[in-house]
Amino acid sequence: MTTTTPRAVGAPLARLEGPAKVSGAARYAAEYPQDEPAYGWIVPSPVPRGRLNAVLSDPAEENVLAVLWYGNAPELAGADDPELAVLQSDRISYRGQPVALVVAASLEAARHAAQVVQLDITAEDHDVELRTDHPGLYTPEKVNPAFPAETAEGDVEAALAAAPVTVDVTYSTPALHNSPMEPHATIARWHGDELLVYDSNQHPSGVAATLATVFGLPPERVRVITEHVGGGFGSKGTARPNAVLAALAARVTGRPVQVALPRQAMFSLVGHRTPTIQRIRLGAGPDGTLTAIDHQAYSQTSRLFEFAEQTAVATRHMYAVPDRRTGHRVVRLDMPTPRWMRAPGEAPGMAALECALDELATTLGVDPVELRIRSSAGNPGYLRCLRAGAERFGWAGRDPRPARRRDGDWWIGTGVAGATYPAMAQPSAARARALGDGRFEVAIAAADLGTGARTVLAQIAADELGVPVERVRIRIGDSTLPQASVAGGSSGSASWGWAVTGACRELRESGRDEVLFDTTELLRRGEREQRHAFGAHFAEVRVDAVTGEIRVSRLYGMYDAGRILNPRTARSQFLGGMIMGMGMALHEEGVLDPSVGAWVNHDLAEYHIPAHADVERIEAEWLDEPADEQLNPMGSKGIGEIGIVGSPAAILNAVWHATGVRIRDFPARLDKLL
Ligand code: MOS
Repeated sequence: MTTTTPRAVGAPLARLEGPAKVSGAARYAAEYPQDEPAYGWIVPSPVPRGRLNAVLSDPAEENVLAVLWYGNAPELAGADDPELAVLQSDRISYRGQPVALVVAASLEAARHAAQVVQLDITAEDHDVELRTDHPGLYTPEKVNPAFPAETAEGDVEAALAAAPVTVDVTYSTPALHNSPMEPHATIARWHGDELLVYDSNQHPSGVAATLATVFGLPPERVRVITEHVGGGFGSKGTARPNAVLAALAARVTGRPVQVALPRQAMFSLVGHRTPTIQRIRLGAGPDGTLTAIDHQAYSQTSRLFEFAEQTAVATRHMYAVPDRRTGHRVVRLDMPTPRWMRAPGEAPGMAALECALDELATTLGVDPVELRIRSSAGNPGYLRCLRAGAERFGWAGRDPRPARRRDGDWWIGTGVAGATYPAMAQPSAARARALGDGRFEVAIAAADLGTGARTVLAQIAADELGVPVERVRIRIGDSTLPQASVAGGSSGSASWGWAVTGACRELRESGRDEVLFDTTELLRRGEREQRHAFGAHFAEVRVDAVTGEIRVSRLYGMYDAGRILNPRTARSQFLGGMIMGMGMALHEEGVLDPSVGAWVNHDLAEYHIPAHADVERIEAEWLDEPADEQLNPMGSKGIGEIGIVGSPAAILNAVWHATGVRIRDFPARLDKLL
């Protein structure tokens, strides 16, 4: 590398595609103009369980090209994900499941015809409520992605019986819904037996492979373009039914077909965060050191397949205790399959654990930061986050007693909670090419969900090539580019950056003008110990003494996330996670109506997420750690998810400190304070 080139990694570069996005030039999946486009509108099942006998449509409906249902839909070749076997069976497994697709020459015609379609359905009794005494509960073989469902170290019962101080508490978190700004959307068109798809997703390579399987095509006959994505939070990690339906309808009608989900459909069709019930028992020694943890988690999955969330997995490594037990039980319900939502497992699991720890600290009369410090010996990064975070937040001198600070009508309280998320990298490949005029092109089938991934890859490439960022062109968002792993699990930058580093380094060292670098073999060889990012969240809340309104007046996060590749986009990731954590603490809740077997608040008017006015003072900072090349060549850990881990607990702990009321059922609402 030349010594005259300033390093791009570590610079607060603005998103390269920012001007295209704010000027409207950037195209999202549903925005690619087509000749003679057609539009598909999904007819959702009105019942959670039953059998579809017939779909009756009026042949006089104008502009309707097709009404597809299992009685007439072409047979699909197969799918690993049963939810992608759309219109293939008469079984209805959840309310909102697509039972038909109306395809019409205009969106309005499709929507209208879908609304007046007659469904002949035999409804059956349904079962939609997660309870700890549900007879259908079972212990899955593994929880996501491949952890044992149960663990035991030492003798937790004996340790709890011997502990001078214990807490035994049950927390619950509701169903939560991924609500990216851009709903899922697909345009599909066939050229002979080649399928071209514009799709909003987190994994163009994976979606292309899945569509090839579903339609029985060789992988090279499917191309998925995912140039810009307006968020995903896990819900776009795999192909969703809209992609299959669009391709199916395009095949039947011979026209390009768009299937864009309306916001309401997002609440049943793209996954959600499972509700959880978590019993946590903690024991501590007389010196206030944690001695025993038992964390038992209950969650749900669907009739279609087993999604077993790893709720209690973070509890296995967060604190050093001699006696520990964790377990997961799952029940199949007549509900949509839960899927990934930002920090699946860690977010609800740590919400409960970190609130329970606050209860233990209170019972012991030990400061909650100090309690964590005493038991986090195995995780030095966490220890440093707690110490530095407490210092920067101004924790010292806090009166531990609840309901003591008042400012006019407002009770004021502060709370703390820990955060962790695994640092992962997955196999990917990148191609680097010298364009001959001092410029370079780097290509990888990555997806940028708005996080700044494209920009960070340009920074990584520029440093490896020893040129300014302006001389690097990044091509992503196309499955025909070298295959990339999912933009999920906070692993995107680490995985793709590794491949980009390899390709650029080899290009520079070899003097060739094109290099393809694949990390698959490297990662297979390097079976390494799981590493983690850590964080500490601090919250100050104000609670109106008259109305019970809760405001988060300060939210602060201190992170150990390895080397920060771009402080501007990283800060946004941390803050976004923390704001979503605020939503989990105070606003978000899928409200179940067991009689109809569905969540009743299925739009953003009734499913509340934080708005700008909810965010007052919010800050994220990080430890300035030297690059750790044991992790990956950049020394980075993931940053996409850790902001939502722990921040909900910090807020609920602050609500208790402000008011003396311990809310154990998320979210905290004013009616629960009365
Ligand atoms: Mo994240 S829930 O792995 O996109």
